[in-house]
This record gives sequence, structure tokens and C-alpha cells, in this order.
Amino acid sequence: MSERSSKVSGFYKLGIKERLEFIKKFAELSDEEVKVLANTGALAGDQADRMIENVVGVMPVPLGIAVNFVINGKDYLIPMAIEEPSVVAAASNAAKMSSGFFTSSAGPIMIGQIQTVGIKDPNGARNHILERKEEILKLANEQDPVLVKFGGGARDVEARVIQTGSGPMVITHLIVDCRDAMGANAVNTMAEAVAPLIEKITGGRVYLRIISNFADKRLVRARAVFPKAAIGGEDVVNGIVLAYSFAAADHYRATTHNKGIMNGITAVVLATGNDTRAVEAGAHAYASRSGRYEPLSRWEKNADGDLVGTIELPIAIGLIGGATKTHPTARVNVRILGVKTATELAEVMAAVGLAQNFAALRALATEGIQRGHMSLHSRNIAIAAGATGELVDKIAEIMARERKVRVDRAKELLEELRDRE
Ligand code: MEV
Repeated sequence: MSERSSKVSGFYKLGIKERLEFIKKFAELSDEEVKVLANTGALAGDQADRMIENVVGVMPVPLGIAVNFVINGKDYLIPMAIEEPSVVAAASNAAKMSSGFFTSSAGPIMIGQIQTVGIKDPNGARNHILERKEEILKLANEQDPVLVKFGGGARDVEARVIQTGSGPMVITHLIVDCRDAMGANAVNTMAEAVAPLIEKITGGRVYLRIISNFADKRLVRARAVFPKAAIGGEDVVNGIVLAYSFAAADHYRATTHNKGIMNGITAVVLATGNDTRAVEAGAHAYASRSGRYEPLSRWEKNADGDLVGTIELPIAIGLIGGATKTHPTARVNVRILGVKTATELAEVMAAVGLAQNFAALRALATEGIQRGHMSLHSRNIAIAAGATGELVDKIAEIMARERKVRVDRAKELLEELRDRE
């Protein structure tokens, strides 16, 4: 175990103040950074007003910390911003049952598309573009000397002829290494800058010049083994493999399977101020790449009878640019994660997605998700009924056991327990 251990038992039983103390020590946060986390109104009006248009307020969502994650031998605490109960607890439990996560990725490579129309000889034009590749790359790289200085920049040019309802089009792809940026700004600027050259080369007319969110050159992978003894035995392993087979054969189920994965991934994307829609669009398009919508993860049994999970999907996120650098809480969350590159962050996200998926499938293949979900939800109901202190957990526990998670029952129990005291 490394010095910074993410293994904490009973983290959920601590108060917010004690949890903050733990995070502070783990990530060596300053008092100022802890204040940002503790301040549920951390985004000031003028900051929000500079981020988007027509601002009237902010829409805070809870920020939780998933514990127990060991990824490539390094301990991580994972900030997750999400409105749904159970997700953070499920990720933490799943991580605890795993023997750790191992990841890899293809690198921070994005694609910029340039659409050219009105060409009489589209195949000739395609080859013509490829002959002038070096010139196109040079012009693209002149747009972003900083990216080039940090080892990124336009790397390659691809071109395709597509047949459309409006006739043939030549689609040029600029392949750009975005380093620690998500890359939309860099790629869009490059695509716009090379468009006149593409027009000159092809004699056609360029319309769209925009990044593709089908980031299939920015693939991220995670793998984990869940020992059968740790997860409830052979039956549970078999149940999860069967749940996967169901998803692999049926797109109604695959969609929900992937929704569970994105519960984890999107929560970290949001917590780090990244673009949730870009990641979601890329993930679901990747799930459909065969022409059929399929699960993003796979589950199988190894020679020892243990469960092996793998996941692969595009995750286009950054550490610089966008809200990641401007949102005060996102900045602290990146510090808590302790990630050094955008690629490392994307790999952490893939591991969280796999853990989240495991937790959902394990619950679904055994007792169902409602008991766990309701026992967490029941704490909210107990609080809503007026319970405080130890009574919250006591009442929540009774309601979950009785499967009567309702405010009226919570009120009854509150009176009974108070009378007894
Ligand atoms: C709920 O937010 C997510 C699940 O439906 C995922 C799944 O069914 O795998 C539990």
C-alpha cells in the first residue's frame, strides 16, 4: 500500500468535517482549498456569469468522495458530483472488493473534420489532399505554438470520400495530439485555419470545420479482477457473467448497462469541470461502432473462477482549459485526484466506470438494487421526518428492514424511539 492510502472503512459514517480532514491530509490540501470544498456556494455569481450567458444563479449538486481505489498500484480518492444516491457508495464498495485496477490508453488524440463539397472528382481530390499533408500539418501547427511546445499538435491527415443525400463529399480529418487539453478549441481553430488551403487544393467549397466527438483515437481501457471469495462466491460470478451476456445480446439492456457505467464516469467528468456531453456522446457512439449498440464493458470468468472485468471507451477530457481551471471546486478536485496528465485522469475515469458497472451488476444479479438504494435513501427520509444524530441511522435501518421507506413511518418511529429514551 502506498503512503497515501485510499482504503478507509466507514468513511460514510464520518461527518462532513471529519471527511474533509481526511481528504486534506490525503491530498495535502491547504486550508483555503478545504474552505472551497466546504463552501456549498463555492461558485460566486460573477464567476458563474463569466462562464456562461444569461446567468441567474447556480445549480449545486452534491460532491462525494469514492474511496478504496488503487489504480496501477497508486491510491486515489475520487471526487464524484452526482444527484443520485448509492452511486458513490457502490463505487467505493466495488473498489474494495477488487484486487485493484490496471489501465492503458491510446493517447490524447482528437479528430477535426473538414467537410468539402462541390468537387467533380472527389477521389482525385482526396489523394490530392493527402499529397499536400505536410503543408496542411504545418499550417495547422502554426495556430497553436503552445500546444506544439508541450509536445502536442497536428500529427496526421486522413481523407475520405463519402456519399450523401447531397452528393459526394470529401471529408478531411486532422489528427491532433491535444496533450492535457480536451482539445475542442485547438482542433476547431486548426480546422478553420486549414479550410482555405483545402479549398485551394480541391477546388471545392468547405462548410463544416469542427472536432468529432467520436474520439476513437482517444481510447481508454481499464481491467480488474474481482476474486470470487470477495464478491460472494461462484454464483455471483456466474450471475454477473450472465448479466453481461444479456447486455451483449440485447440493446435494451445494453443501454442501461452503459448508463450504470456512465453514472461513475460522468460524475468524475462533472466534478473535474469537464464536458459531460462530449464524453457521453463519444461513449454511446463507440458502443454502437459495430452497427449494433453494445456494452462498453465485458465480464468473464478466469481459470481460477474469479471475475474479470474490462472496459474500453473514448474519454475526451482535459486538465487545462475550460472549467477545469476556472471552477474553484473542480480545481480542488483535480488536486484530490493527484493526476498529472489528462490521460491519467481519463484512465481513472475508466476504472471508476468499471467499478460502477460491477457494483450494479452484482446487486442486480443477487438481491436487486432496491434494498441498498432504499437503505441509503431512507436516511434522507429519516432526516426529512425530523430525526437527528444517531436516530437518523436507527430509523433508516428499521425502515429499510421493513421495506417501508416513507416519511409517515419515519415520523412514527421517531416518536416511538424518543419516548423510549
Ligand atoms: C441506475 O442508475 C443504474 C443501473 O440501472 C445500472 C444497471 O442496470 O446496470 C442500476
